[in-house]
Amino acid sequence: MTLMSPSHDGLVSRALAAFEATPAALQGLTREFTDQMSRGLAGRGGSLKMLRTFTRQPTGRESGRVVVVDWGGTKGRAAVVALSGEGPAPVLNEDVFTFTDAQKRGTAAAVFDVVAAAIGRVVDAHPPADYPLGFVYSFPARLEAIDRAIALALTKGWTVVDLEGHDVAALLSAALRRRGLARVTVAAVANDTVATLLLQTYQARGVDPEARPADVGLILGTGTNQAPDLGPAGIHNLESGNFDGVAAIETRYDAALDRELTDPRPGAQRLEKMASGRYLGELLRRALVDIAADGRAFGGLAGSAFDTPFAVDSEQLSRIAADHTPGLDGVDAVLRELRATSEREERGAVRDLSDAIVRRAARLVGAALLGTLRFIDPALAEGRTIAVDGSLWGGYPGFESLVRETFVELVGREAAERIEIAFVKDSTGTGAAVIAAAASERSQACSSG
Ligand code: BGC
Repeated sequence: MTLMSPSHDGLVSRALAAFEATPAALQGLTREFTDQMSRGLAGRGGSLKMLRTFTRQPTGRESGRVVVVDWGGTKGRAAVVALSGEGPAPVLNEDVFTFTDAQKRGTAAAVFDVVAAAIGRVVDAHPPADYPLGFVYSFPARLEAIDRAIALALTKGWTVVDLEGHDVAALLSAALRRRGLARVTVAAVANDTVATLLLQTYQARGVDPEARPADVGLILGTGTNQAPDLGPAGIHNLESGNFDGVAAIETRYDAALDRELTDPRPGAQRLEKMASGRYLGELLRRALVDIAADGRAFGGLAGSAFDTPFAVDSEQLSRIAADHTPGLDGVDAVLRELRATSEREERGAVRDLSDAIVRRAARLVGAALLGTLRFIDPALAEGRTIAVDGSLWGGYPGFESLVRETFVELVGREAAERIEIAFVKDSTGTGAAVIAAAASERSQACSSG
């Protein structure tokens, strides 16, 4: 057995220390986040895009049969949802579809043909009818109306060649026409964070019509982003993954990852590159490869998938965290999947590094959320609700506790206890349906009034 040498222990400890964000650095991040929200809202620049959403909080009584579709990652989903206006809404049938790597780099028409085909499959299962459609577009877009959304640069590794600058609602409508689905009308385009926010309010008001609306919608999955309700200023999509006030926290692994990736370009999506599921496995891979380069431990990584960028995914980090066996057999299984062999001590180091990277992600997300809450309520005097969805938050053991601990550490127990976190499932289904139903009710009211 090759024990790790003291110099290796030192390298591991240094990497672990580098991923430890200090409370002072996190406080600074929170302040900068709040400042950048003000700047963005006033049109004075900054990395937070502060995009308008043209949505309002739901009453809880939205009703009707609606088609929803969601595109924002490798897997998309179309469904028919029946909103009764009284709480939980059944998803009548759904169709999950997967994009190929070629489609991620292909044309917009090809992507929208995949999306329209899925819509066709769910609609065909029902008697012919007119359907409003809620389109969850989980990438940055500048909305000019609830049904007009101009695509900005893509994120999460997508590079569709001819999308930027075009209205995604019009592109989807054209694909629906190509497919003969003239009775499906795009009623609303919304970011996934907005769907999460509004779904939480819809559910709460389904139980109690007087319930306070949720304050922030957060997604933490492949990507990350927030949509807060800013009161009179309305609900905004911050595109918080693009927040760039991270200099005091970044490690050299973060800096190299940012510099070497072309999509998103260097300098873009800085917070997302340090905190979301798409990047955490890659940070672990980079840190381990760096330590192995010294040549005295982690020899079993040579020739493995650790040579390939993005080979480690965040689902594997969740499995590493869930392993409580004495021999770290679960960590071993993950490493073997990646064609790497290891000693027990090395597995311990892998586990510690993985934990440190995810812990830092939770602290970054917590500090950024406090930035938003402080913008809404500088003294954090009122009760607030954050609605959350996403695979990293939902899948990583104990993630929410890490965020809660960060709240306590940064604002004290009393203020932290006023922050409620609600994990909502299915925001891109029912949440999107609520948005589309509200939009089509409004447009009917306008045309008849
Ligand atoms: C996108 C956001 C989205 C988030 C979560 C980010 O990469 O830019 O629009 O809300 O991922 O899906």
